[in-house]
Amino acid sequence: MDEPLLLIPGPTNLSERVREVMSRPQIGHTSQQFYNEFVELVRLARHVFRNEKGRQFVFSGPGTIGMETSVVNAVVPGDRVLVVQTGYFGKRFAMLNETHGAKVDLLGYPDGASAEPDQLRAKLRASDYKAVFITHVDTSTSVRNPIRPLVEECRNAGVFSIVDSVCGLGGEPLDFDALGADIAFTASQKALASAPGAVLVAASKSFMEHLQKREVPIASYYMNLLRWDPIMDDPRMYLATPSVQVLRALRVALLELKEEGLQQRWARHTALGEMTRRVLDELGAAFVAREGSRSNTVTAFWVAEGTSGKVRDRLEAEHGVSVAKGISDDKSRMVRVGHFGMLTEGMLRPALESLASVLVEVGAVKKEQAHIEARR
Ligand SMILES: Cc1ncc(COP(=O)(O)O)c(C=O)c1O
Repeated sequence: MDEPLLLIPGPTNLSERVREVMSRPQIGHTSQQFYNEFVELVRLARHVFRNEKGRQFVFSGPGTIGMETSVVNAVVPGDRVLVVQTGYFGKRFAMLNETHGAKVDLLGYPDGASAEPDQLRAKLRASDYKAVFITHVDTSTSVRNPIRPLVEECRNAGVFSIVDSVCGLGGEPLDFDALGADIAFTASQKALASAPGAVLVAASKSFMEHLQKREVPIASYYMNLLRWDPIMDDPRMYLATPSVQVLRALRVALLELKEEGLQQRWARHTALGEMTRRVLDELGAAFVAREGSRSNTVTAFWVAEGTSGKVRDRLEAEHGVSVAKGISDDKSRMVRVGHFGMLTEGMLRPALESLASVLVEVGAVKKEQAHIEARR
């Protein structure tokens, strides 16, 4: 069998160049070499976010650190916030806000539905909020939210907008400067095609000015953007020891993204998403996300109760392809396929054919035909 292929919704497959840089001898985080690479990494992060006007942060930690960083910097205890909830990660935003003392209202949607800007506008008119938290692509449902009009509503209402694009950036269009959000963040292990362990945060100029004037201290040492600010210009200053290999690998992954071109990468993800949906549609699988709200980075679909584990295990054992079950309550009746990063249509097509045959073999979807060929 060739190398196993990850089609889980992160972490994702790594290119040879990314793997190679991770296996190099250790260097120090205060070395000139690391300084040079880090300065370039921050520049590349700006490029992928299209953040030329605001501040750009890159530091060690999982996507969850990005979520919590956005909360502790935007919110002080007692603030009223609104969480747009279209799946598990929206619920987590609510939990994190509560953990940090915010009063949380939910604009919640049933599984599969994306948020509606008109409903957000109505909520913003009815109450005073400090900030609105939006998930770009909720990985648990594969729902893509219309971030442009949602953020526009927040701007019109004069409230902070925070976008979790952990499962979006690199695979779904996001232009931070044009969007006008206050914070957007992602992590290294999904569409950016690097190893887990780095978080990338874009913050608007006006949000940084707000932070400078904030009277209540930011309730975190590590997640304090004001502390990270000077380190983005000179990583030799010490705040905490960075995950050197992970950051070096991320620089190479972002270089590869730049070489491919941002537009081209978005187009490739659109093709990957369409191919996945086409194959599953032919099988008669029911998508979790409604038509028009389906992301190009991850696809979630319903399977017969209790079969998701069998699909995952058999596909991995017999075909070397990994997919994921659902999250929390939907574990046993949902399968999720991540299609992002360095994946090409040529890599995806045979893997989807294997997935289709396993889905039929274990009775996860109903179809007499045992072999479905991915349409070109
Ligand atoms: C949309 C979204 N937000 C946040 C996270 C949290 O990221 P991490 O697992 O790296 O902490 C994830 C992880 O899958 C995610 O998909």
